[in-house]
Amino acid sequence: MQALADIIAEIAQEMAQAPDRGRVADYIPALATVSPDHFGMAIVLADGTVHVAGDADTRFSIQSISKVFSLTMALGAVGDALWQRVGREPSGSAFNSIVQLESEQGIPRNPFINAGAIVICDILLSRYEPREAIAEFLRFVRSLVGDEDIAIDEVVARGEQETGFRNMALANYMRAFGNIHHPVERTLGVYFHQCALAMSCRQLAMAGRYLMAGGRNPATGRSVISPQRARRINALMLTCGHYDGSGEFAFRTGLPGKSGVGGGILAVAPGIASIAVWSPGLNERGNSQLGTLALERLAHRTNWSIFEPAAARESIPIGTGI
Ligand code: DON
Repeated sequence: MQALADIIAEIAQEMAQAPDRGRVADYIPALATVSPDHFGMAIVLADGTVHVAGDADTRFSIQSISKVFSLTMALGAVGDALWQRVGREPSGSAFNSIVQLESEQGIPRNPFINAGAIVICDILLSRYEPREAIAEFLRFVRSLVGDEDIAIDEVVARGEQETGFRNMALANYMRAFGNIHHPVERTLGVYFHQCALAMSCRQLAMAGRYLMAGGRNPATGRSVISPQRARRINALMLTCGHYDGSGEFAFRTGLPGKSGVGGGILAVAPGIASIAVWSPGLNERGNSQLGTLALERLAHRTNWSIFEPAAARESIPIGTGI
């Protein structure tokens, strides 16, 4: 079998030549100007080895991938009481859909659709003032990566605030059901800033290490969350991380993953690797077109699908990283 360094270089080369790159999101003004030609990939292995290809060090707007980190933070803050206000079922609907909220009394299906992530921000406000919540979120992600040089893109945050009519509708609607406890501007302020975090694939793959390593940051040995919560977040990423495209993503890659409209995807091969890919063009479900294809090829060539027998998943000669 090929070494991992060759596999990732080969995939980056294939993606550079891909004819159909999808469409860049344009409903957030700052995202519309990003070139669809980018492709980046970073893999951090359990032993800390890092493999990168393409634009792995270019920062992009992580958008909904941030929902994984805010969920982790909120679970740490309030524990399983969180599940009284957010469900754990795939929605089968678009990321910004409002339809199920009426029949389900303002309880969002899961923490990864916009409605669910907005409730998570509202939960954080039970512990922090809005500015403090944003600062704490930033501190948390920086500590996961081990890099202080990660910031929120204020232009993106402002753009979202100015054009986030659907999110305002979702928040107001849930407030009418009593599932938003703070003024919607405050809750959405936290949500828009969290989505506007800018990170590279390398940083994102580093941030995801605790999900590969049973809830521990392997660099520090410190626990980020319990092993059970890490397993559960991975389960939610597999079943809900790509909205109404979650089944298709699981079918193709066999990996827990969370997408963002900036074109990034964070994927986890538990026990083996934390993987980040970025290509700004999206498919019809709002998930990265080439990011998904790259992960599908990676999972196929490495046997990293969680549905592979253990012996096959562990058999790859992973070679030397950089
Ligand atoms: O709320 C929004 O619409 C964006 N801040 C995030 C949406 C997103 O990333 C959906 N994912 N594919």
